[in-house]
Amino acid sequence: MGGGGGLMPAATASPVLEARGVSKAFGHVQALSKVDLDLLPGEVLGLVGDNGAGKSTLIKILSGVLQPDVGEVLIDGRRVHMGSPVAAQALGIETVYQDLAVVPMLDVAENLFLGREERIGGRFGRLLPIVNRRSMQRQAREQLNSLNIGLGSVRQKVETLSGGQRQAVAVSRAVVFGRHIVILDEPTAALGVRESKAMQELIQAINGRGLSVVLISHNMPQVFELTTRILILRAGQRAGVVRTAETNMEQVVRLMTGAEIQTAA
Ligand SMILES: Nc1ncnc2c1ncn2[C@@H]1O[C@H](COP(=O)(O)OP(=O)(O)O)[C@@H](O)[C@H]1O
Ligand SMILES: [Mg+2]
Repeated sequence: MGGGGGLMPAATASPVLEARGVSKAFGHVQALSKVDLDLLPGEVLGLVGDNGAGKSTLIKILSGVLQPDVGEVLIDGRRVHMGSPVAAQALGIETVYQDLAVVPMLDVAENLFLGREERIGGRFGRLLPIVNRRSMQRQAREQLNSLNIGLGSVRQKVETLSGGQRQAVAVSRAVVFGRHIVILDEPTAALGVRESKAMQELIQAINGRGLSVVLISHNMPQVFELTTRILILRAGQRAGVVRTAETNMEQVVRLMTGAEIQTAA
């Protein structure tokens, strides 16, 4: 509780990921105004706010999908420019977007390795790349087993899976390739109770592997169960950041709705 059962960040630890003074407008809509975020090593940071508060925009900036109008992003204290999601991935950041990125027509193993298919090596491999299916399927099976994700077969088409199983595939991909930071935008929004519980265990498993996690969720009990700290956005601004163990849902909701403004960080 309040620590997510994972690694507790040391009070003095420096952030693995930071946004400083990040602003972003879409035409006349100011989606973000001078927002700061810091993610500490091994923590699960909750990111909450009403619809339209700017959560997805912020994580898209942290994932290289969008560029901030002003402000900067730092990884391990160093300023980075992430011109694309591939650039963010190269820096160890994996993101599961709200608008789910699995391909229904492909099977589980193919989805897991999407965009990173292993080629059979050698001269002919380079001339005529052939995806190394067997190796991908074996690795997919191992990874899903190690995460305790029970799927019938990695050769099953994703379109035949339940919503929760699809989510699990999307999140597994982030876990398998994430070396440093995993960002999850509403991973349980479309899930039933049992599937949400399984996803919760998956997030704890990610954190248990020492990865730092940013979790966007509307599910308050889940946010309180999983996170170390919670950052609250309201109308594109940072309304506050609280330590999960030192707050309660009423206070977080007050910060979300503007009934309360946090004065000191
Ligand atoms: N690509 C876009 N074009 C125009 N407006 C956008 C775009 N993306 C987000 N917005 C607007 O920016 C604001 C923040 O959106 P978003 O970051 O998706 O919020 P949240 O994820 O907290 O619900 C909203 O007013 C939304 O309509
Ligand atoms: Mg969103």
